[in-house]
Amino acid sequence: MIELFDSLINKRLLTRKVPDSIRNIDMLNTLLDISEESTGEFDKLKSNDLYLASNDTTSATLEWAMAELLYNPEALSKAKAELKQIIGKGNAVVESDIDRLPYLQATFRLHPPVPLLFPCKAGADVEIQGFTVPKGAQVLVNIWAIGKDASIWEHPNAFKPERFMGSEIDVKGRNFELILFGAGRRMCPGLPLALRMLHLMLGSLIHTFDWKVEGGFKPKDIYFEEKFGLTLQKAKPLRAIPIMV
Ligand code: HEM
Repeated sequence: MIELFDSLINKRLLTRKVPDSIRNIDMLNTLLDISEESTGEFDKLKSNDLYLASNDTTSATLEWAMAELLYNPEALSKAKAELKQIIGKGNAVVESDIDRLPYLQATFRLHPPVPLLFPCKAGADVEIQGFTVPKGAQVLVNIWAIGKDASIWEHPNAFKPERFMGSEIDVKGRNFELILFGAGRRMCPGLPLALRMLHLMLGSLIHTFDWKVEGGFKPKDIYFEEKFGLTLQKAKPLRAIPIMV
C-alpha cells in the first residue's frame, strides 16, 4: 500500500513541477501544499493512512447511499419529504439540522466500505458462542457478512431505512450487528467527522437536486456489483445527472 501511495504521490509531485500546469484543488494537492508551507517534509505514511482511512471510505459510503436511494424511488421520496418538511424548499441543509433527519441518517447500513475490521490478536483464550478463540489467534471481524446475516436482519439485502425508525440501533459501536466504524478502543476515530460530512453531503445532494441515472438502471445484481480493493467500492461507478428542482 505504501508503494502504491508513494507512486501516486511521486507522480503528482512531478506534475506539480511542470511550469504553468493547472493545479486542481483536491485532497492530495492540499496536503502537498500544507507540507510545502510547513517543514517541507511530507510525511507520506501518515498522509497515506488518513488519505485512505478518510477519503475512500467516506466517498464510497456516499456513493452507495446515493445509488440505493436512486434505485429505490419510494425511499428517495421519503428522504426528500423529510428534508422538505424540516429544512424547507430552497434552504440549505446545515449541520444543526441533521439530528432532526432520522430517515436520512438511516440510509448507511448496507454497504460497509471497510468490510473486514483491521486484524486484531486475541490477548487470551476467549469463548464466543461455543467457539474457542485461542490466545494469539489473529481475528478478522467480517462486518460485511454480519450485515447480510438473515438471523440478525429481516430481508438483509433490502434497502429499508424504515427498519431503523424508532430503533435504538446506531453505528456508534454499541450495537454489534451494525459496526460500520468498528467498536471498542480500535474503532474509527473519524466517526464524528464522517457522519457529519455524509449526512450533510447526502442531504444537500438530494434536497437541492432531482437525479437521473446516466444510461438508466441496470438489473439489481449488476447495478450493485461490489469491487473490493482498498475499500468496498461500487464496481460500476454511479453516474447521475443533477436536475435543479
Ligand atoms: C464512512 C466513513 C468511514 C468508515 C465507515 C470508517 C470505518 C473505519 C473502520 C471500520 C476502521 C477500523 C476499526 C477497527 O479495526 O476496529 C477505521 C479506522 C480508522 N479510521 Fe475510519 N472510517 C470512516 C471515515 C474516516 C474518517 C473521515 C477518518 C479521518 C478523518 C478516519 C480515520 C480512521 C483512522 C485513522 C483509522 C485507524 C485507527 C487505528 O488504526 O487505530 N475514518 N475506520
